[in-house]
Order: sequence, then structure tokens, then C-alpha cells
Amino acid sequence: MAALGLIVMSNDWNRRHVLSLADFTPSEYDVVLQTANSFREVLSRRTKKVPTLQGQVVTNLFFEPSTRTRSSFELAAKRLSADILNFAPGSSSLTKGETILDTAKTYLAMGTDMMVIRHKEAGVPQAIAQEMDRLGVKVGILNAGDGQHEHPSQALLDLFTITTLLQPEAPRLKLLEGKKIAIVGDILHSRVARSNIWSLTASGAEVHLAGPPTLLPKLFADFVTAPKIGAVVPAATPAPRRLLLHWSLEPALEAADFVMTLRLQRERMTNHLLPTLREYHQQFGITRDRLKLCNPDVRVLHPGPVNRGVEISSDLMDDPQFSLISQQVTSGVAVRMALLFLMGGGKV
Ligand code: CP
Repeated sequence: MAALGLIVMSNDWNRRHVLSLADFTPSEYDVVLQTANSFREVLSRRTKKVPTLQGQVVTNLFFEPSTRTRSSFELAAKRLSADILNFAPGSSSLTKGETILDTAKTYLAMGTDMMVIRHKEAGVPQAIAQEMDRLGVKVGILNAGDGQHEHPSQALLDLFTITTLLQPEAPRLKLLEGKKIAIVGDILHSRVARSNIWSLTASGAEVHLAGPPTLLPKLFADFVTAPKIGAVVPAATPAPRRLLLHWSLEPALEAADFVMTLRLQRERMTNHLLPTLREYHQQFGITRDRLKLCNPDVRVLHPGPVNRGVEISSDLMDDPQFSLISQQVTSGVAVRMALLFLMGGGKV
């Protein structure tokens, strides 16, 4: 542990699975941020590899396409010296009728310690985690994006990107207290938005959602306040989370410190929810000119993949003065190393 300079408060991390950020505590966010920052230092060394997960098997079960998440989990596992298995649905026995659960059990029987799961349907990683718990096996499940539900590791890497920008040596959740953060675009279909709403509102930031009414239903106003079905409402609720909705862009951008723009999820749109992409860009596209409404130090994030010239103008996307998009991808490796490390027992 000392060799890595890792300070992990084991009492603050008791999760076997990371499926959602809805019930993450402030100390869990801080453990992930601090651990990721130690791995950021490891990744800046000449030898970017540590023996932490030697002998452990990480399996990437991606039933839906991915570039960033799948590759960065793979690289994170390799940097931690784990063995990594990559499942490709098109050339797997799924095509012969094997079920998802039986696929997961097959990888379990090969000695998998952690499964990273992406699926186009919400709830698949949760269902596999439930089955693993029912079987009494010690395998950790990481949700790498399930339908429109959540994408926890993306929101954690977004949080890491922002907090290390504010304080590179000691990123922590509360650095965002009082900041104004705009999340813009296709909120309805975005698992990234849902996970980010949990993390950013937990920090004490004021989170402004902006999008056309078809992509930002009113029900989001209750998103962080409505009790979850079956949940016990705690007697002493923490400070209220601040979430505001706008069906126009300007009030969300005014004096914003960070602007997070989202991909239009055209593959998830079943109805005609937009007039044209050009009109969408005119109303909700993030451009250099529109950023003049924000705090002068504003930075722009996008989880990728980007529809250039639709959610964000192409020149702004490539401008390092404003764009944090490359840093988000870089952060992904350190944050995913931190998650695998913590779920793997946090031992060196
Ligand atoms: N942000 C994100 O999840 O990207 P990929 O679909 O490329 O993994």
C-alpha cells in the first residue's frame, strides 16, 4: 500500500458491486477520488503497472457497443496486472440461444472475480448481481451502462475530471459545493445524466438540466427527491439536493462553472422527438458564442461519442481552453483502476 502511496479507508468501502450512484455516500465518492488520484500518479510513471490484482480475472461482458468504457476497463485491469477476458456477443454462444445469465455463469465457472457489464436494457447488471448473491459467490459486478438507467463509472470519471481540475493534489466531492453545473441535451435517454445527477447533487452543486421538452420530461423535477420504491426514507434526510429544469438553454448557461453536453441518443428514440439536427444545434448546441453567458473559466464536458456539430460545435470540442473531453477519457483509466482495486479488496 505504501509503495503506491494509496490511502484507502477500508471502513468507507464495503461494496461488492457498483450498480448505481443513487445510494453512494460522500465518503464513498471521496474514497474513489483519492484512490483514482493515486493511480493517476502511477499512470504518470515510466512503468505504469502495479501487481495489485495479480491472479484475479476481470471479464468484460459488453452486449452493446463501446469504445471508451470497454477499452479503459481493459487497460485498467491490465495496469493492475489482472487477467482480462473480453466477451464479444456476435461471436459468442448467445447466437446459439445461450441466455445472458448462463453466459455470466460460464465466465464465473472460469474463475472470474469481477464482471463489467453493459447492456441496452436497464437492470441487466442488477439481475446478474442478484443471481451471484443468491448463489453466494464472491464476484463483483460493475454496471458499465444499462439502457437509460445508469452509467456510474462515467459519472465518477466526470467527477474526478472536474475535482482534479479544481484541486489536483486532493480531489474531493465537496469541492463542487456552490458550483453551477449545466447538463444539456437528451436527458430522457441518458444514463450518463442520471448517474451524474446523483453525484453532482450529492456534492452540493446546483445542477441545471436543459433540453427540449420532448427530451426533458417534468418528472425529472422529482428525480432526486422522490423516494425509491421499497426504500426506507431516513428520518434525518441530508441537505436537499438542488436540481433545476429549463426548456431553454440560456438560464442553464448563465454563470455556469461547468457545462456537460450529452449525445443525442438517436438509437434510443422511438418517436419523432426532434425537428431536425440543425434546429436542435441552433437551440441547444454548445458553441463558443454561447459560452459567453457562463463563468469566464467555464469548462465543457461530453461523455462521448460526440455528434460533431450537433451537441457541440466542432471547433469548441477541439479547443483545450474549454474542452475537457480528452481529460475525461484519460481520467477513465485511473477511475476504473480505482473501482477494480476497491472491489478487488483494496490490497496491494
Ligand atoms: N461514454 C461512453 O460510455 O462511451 P462508450 O460508449 O464509447 O463506452
